Amino acid sequence: MRILVTGGAGYIGSVSVEAFLAAGHDVTVLDDLSTGHRAAVAEGATLEVGTYADSRAVAQLLERRQIDAVLHCAAKSLVGESMVDPAKYFRENVGGGIGLLEGMRLAGVKRIVLSSTAATYGMPERTPILETDPVRPINAYGESKRCVEAAITWYGHGYGFRSVILRYFNAAGASRLFGEQHAPETHLIPAVLIAAEESREMTIYGDDYPTADGTCVRDYIHVEDLAAAHLLALVATDAGDPRTGPTSGPCQPVICNLGNGNGFSNREIVAAAETIVGHAIPVKIGPRRAGDPAVLVASAERAGRELGWHPRQGNLENVIGSAWEWRRNHPSGYAD
Ligand code: UFG
Repeated sequence: MRILVTGGAGYIGSVSVEAFLAAGHDVTVLDDLSTGHRAAVAEGATLEVGTYADSRAVAQLLERRQIDAVLHCAAKSLVGESMVDPAKYFRENVGGGIGLLEGMRLAGVKRIVLSSTAATYGMPERTPILETDPVRPINAYGESKRCVEAAITWYGHGYGFRSVILRYFNAAGASRLFGEQHAPETHLIPAVLIAAEESREMTIYGDDYPTADGTCVRDYIHVEDLAAAHLLALVATDAGDPRTGPTSGPCQPVICNLGNGNGFSNREIVAAAETIVGHAIPVKIGPRRAGDPAVLVASAERAGRELGWHPRQGNLENVIGSAWEWRRNHPSGYAD
């Protein structure tokens, strides 16, 4: 396949690009490097620096590189930031997302896999969450992704776009070559590891949630398991694949959660990280962070059934351990 990966210089994108190349596919990365890193683009992929929001430029790129299918990973994705600057999320994720879809329509490329999020569910009514559960985001990030999901659904109905929408739970871990590096770092696992490296106190946002130890519970999924899911999903968008619709006419997206089905509290994450780094990590309890649901745990049964996806690196030691190893092997992170 000839695959375009938007956000392929970012955390999840970079590990996916590595996996696609290893499976023998031709990969083009479209990334504006606003949060991605040039050095995170695997050797063998073609990097185009630019925005996915520019329909004409996207159409030209799709034609020039004869792209078959798009993995759309690029997005603004910080829950906390989305609460204080929602305009950024609607402008970039929603406005930009429509720009990408229009570029695809112009070029006649109708296969897309979307990186979506558990944040679309909002406050879940039950655990684990099923894809058929209500989608009622409680933060602007989740709402922006819901809008992109809706646009893709209607592009399927109106123009025959074939799509798989993947709702990630909490991506974590690293491959040997590529890991997580954000500035500032707001995600729990890297934040805990940075606190361990710098021997400073780590803040847990709230311990008065309705959970066993009062801290939020999340379902951490290894980034290499996400990469494997992306490949299976791209295959499912093939024109001859009945999972994503008939050979002509309206198509419906396949929507799948990607998680392990196990929840770990913020305190449990700190404790597991302490075992891996080999020393205590001091913690203080701060106020709740706006937009955080108490518990987000996936049922990924549908991804198993529809895509044949089964997470292979589910245990927490492996998830945190691989992130720690990547940090040890890349003490200055990416050079850029
Ligand atoms: N947390 C802390 N201290 C920190 C950082 C995080 O206590 O320094 C807490 C958060 O409050 C939350 C938990 O750790 O309770 C996880 O927070 P993250 O920022 O690591 O992840 P989120 O659950 O907020 O969001 C992530 C992705 C989203 C995705 C969501 C789905 O960033 O894109 O998972 O579960 F939508």
